Amino acid sequence: MTRIRIVLVAGARPNFMKVAPLLDAMGERPWADPYIIHTGQHYDEAMSRAFFHDLGIPEPDVNLDVGSGSHAWQTGEIMKRIEPVFIEQEPDLLIVVGDVNSTMAATITAVKLGIKVAHVEAGLRSFDRQMPEEINRQVTDAIADYLFTTEPSANENLAREGVSPDRVFHTGNVMIDSLVRQMDRASASSVLTRLGLAPRSYALLTLHRPSNVDSESSFRAIFSALHQLQKKLPIIFPTHPRTLQRIQELGMDHVLQELGGHSSWHNLGSDVDSSRGDDQGLFFQEPLGYHDFLKLTMESRLVLTDSGGIQEETTYLGIPCITLRENTERPITLTMGTNVLAGKDPEKIIHESELVLAGQVGEAAVPELWDGKAAERILDVIARLFHLEP
Ligand code: UD1
Repeated sequence: MTRIRIVLVAGARPNFMKVAPLLDAMGERPWADPYIIHTGQHYDEAMSRAFFHDLGIPEPDVNLDVGSGSHAWQTGEIMKRIEPVFIEQEPDLLIVVGDVNSTMAATITAVKLGIKVAHVEAGLRSFDRQMPEEINRQVTDAIADYLFTTEPSANENLAREGVSPDRVFHTGNVMIDSLVRQMDRASASSVLTRLGLAPRSYALLTLHRPSNVDSESSFRAIFSALHQLQKKLPIIFPTHPRTLQRIQELGMDHVLQELGGHSSWHNLGSDVDSSRGDDQGLFFQEPLGYHDFLKLTMESRLVLTDSGGIQEETTYLGIPCITLRENTERPITLTMGTNVLAGKDPEKIIHESELVLAGQVGEAAVPELWDGKAAERILDVIARLFHLEP
């Protein structure tokens, strides 16, 4: 029978939950011959291998071990190292996911070699070119062949950019596929017990966008809001290595102390239980694995984040989400879901948090096709495009 070689590229943490369901769906289709490239954009155990383990992703066929650098350096290095792999493997199709540097670098290289490219999670736009991801999204979508979208705004954006509708497929959200599949295992996670937390008693925070953490004034503004909020409930903060590095570079350890932050990563359980006057605490935590983080999200009172994917996960789970950004490329999480934008204005962050704590949250619903079957639909489309039996 005809088999097609499909190369999947994953490089950074938010890619891994998107490739896992695609690989599962390929496993059920005898015509699909997958090959996994890890670019090595993320390389720490907690940022990469932990996710392969939790999500049951096979060892990559090759790891390009690129590591960290400036945008140009990292993008160029991925292109240089991935090109010989594409030439050797002669894939029929490259699948890229999301909007990280690895996504764009792999796409440019493949298209120049005449390899067909499918972009999963295409068409999202924040209309903010300060965000490196926005540039990655625009470049990738402009040159990829097949564009798979998660929400109607993405189809509208692509139509406005002149993309022919026969290249665009609204198939749903593969990140939600992973969430649906892993829900039982996440529910069984012991993370709350390990951290000494009761359900709905804490806020969960993630923060790593350059626009928030690269300048001391932005950082200070956000942390002054967190300082007020932590008087009402403890804030759990699994800290991205980039953010931790910025705290150290900016010499902000003292700022955190002033603001009531407790920058120890350990003994969280005993810390939460101990009395500290008005302060509940802001608890730094090492980055968590997929199941532990999902469990913490599911059981939280509210989530504060500048991540893209977490806006979608909280919408699916019905957990209130306050996004510490001025814009979102995922507007359906605002119109249908649980998300509100608060930027980095302390008053707005506190106001939105107080509304949630007072139980004043609007009706929310799960967007269409966020049902755990997006990868299946994507593979069905690919079968049709390549004239294969689905
Ligand atoms: C990248 C993505 C971003 C995504 C985020 C999720 C781009 C442009 N950005 O941002 O869209 O939301 O991943 O995590 O692709 N570092 C480590 N260990 C690691 C990886 C990174 O210590 O395993 C540190 C390094 O100091 C590095 C810094 O984090 O310089 C930034 O890493 P990088 O991959 O450049 O960007 P992220 O901020 O992780």
